[in-house]
Amino acid sequence: MGQIELKGVTKRFGDVEVIPPLDLMIDEGEFVVFVGPSGCGKSTLLRLIAGLEDVSGGHIEIDGADATDLPPAKRSLAMVFQSYALYPHMSVRKNIAFPLKMAKIDPAVAKEKVENAARVLNLGDYLERRPGQLSGGQRQRVAIGRAIVREPAAFLFDEPLSNLDAALRVNMRLEISELHQKLKTTMVYVTHDQVEAMTMADKIVVLRAGHIEQVGSPLELYRSPRNLFVAGFIGSPKMNFIEGAEAAKHDAHTIGIRPEHTLVSATEGRWKGKVTVSEHLGSDTFLHVETEHGLINVRGDGEVSLHAGDTAYLSPDESQLHRFDAQGMAI
Ligand SMILES: Nc1ncnc2c1ncn2[C@@H]1O[C@H](COP(=O)(O)OP(=O)(O)OP(=O)(O)O)[C@@H](O)[C@H]1O
Ligand SMILES: [Mg+2]
Repeated sequence: MGQIELKGVTKRFGDVEVIPPLDLMIDEGEFVVFVGPSGCGKSTLLRLIAGLEDVSGGHIEIDGADATDLPPAKRSLAMVFQSYALYPHMSVRKNIAFPLKMAKIDPAVAKEKVENAARVLNLGDYLERRPGQLSGGQRQRVAIGRAIVREPAAFLFDEPLSNLDAALRVNMRLEISELHQKLKTTMVYVTHDQVEAMTMADKIVVLRAGHIEQVGSPLELYRSPRNLFVAGFIGSPKMNFIEGAEAAKHDAHTIGIRPEHTLVSATEGRWKGKVTVSEHLGSDTFLHVETEHGLINVRGDGEVSLHAGDTAYLSPDESQLHRFDAQGMAI
């Protein structure tokens, strides 16, 4: 249960083609993350899968059966949104039970499902409260609970954590990962946050302008980005790119080197530069260094004692260099 396949799916709004023909296989039980910049079509793609938007062309199959024209309620998928849309006048218990009530499930069975979901989500102590008496993270868990009781073939999440503060986001990220471990249900998760994508996904789908730039595991994308876009999108701080003579030495149009693959020294190294910004985090040190090849970001250990205004020497780890041709494709 929970295999989703997109075959030549397209979407147009009026004359604008937001999703050009797109093929994608989401395997049973997989945690798949759609990531990409704002407006690239992540939500649209999720809504097409959910049936909240009609496709302009192509087919969607769920568990091998054509679901292209099925209404949302018949797709056995549950969507969790950024805004949790809970009923403020109902208790947590009633909010979670709501889809079961709509489906006229036997109340005794519904009660058990609600209590199971509450247990999985650690909401057991809050069942009689109203949403207004909960924290943002607890409310998001209620919204997830409402999805869980439906026992869907797959969960579809659209930026469920973006309303939460940074610390809570990290917590909820772990909770959703744990939930996936427990339920082993397919999850399709939309975010523009590449850290969320890297930490949660079995498979990341990088989108740009409705087009799939690359599909792979987090480490595949980190180690072997297929083009400049993916190279620049995955990894934080982002990869440095150098063009011109220095790249030509490597028989490339552009070379890429990640901040964590660049050694920094106060006394010697391949590229000389001047530190313009230094951030000392204790565990790491982030430096911005102005060099003859442009601004290069470097990540050193916590002991790096360089500060703004100092001279720095940078040496890329040659084994970690990425090479790209004039079209921006990896060579
Ligand atoms: N109902 C609509 N009518 C017309 N254009 C739309 C409609 N919905 C989305 N679009 C356009 O489709 C494109 C993709 O939008 P979508 O919401 O899928 O992006 P997104 O990747 O989810 O972005 P974000 O990260 O900002 O949420 C955008 O250019 C958007 O303006
Ligand atoms: Mg969106």
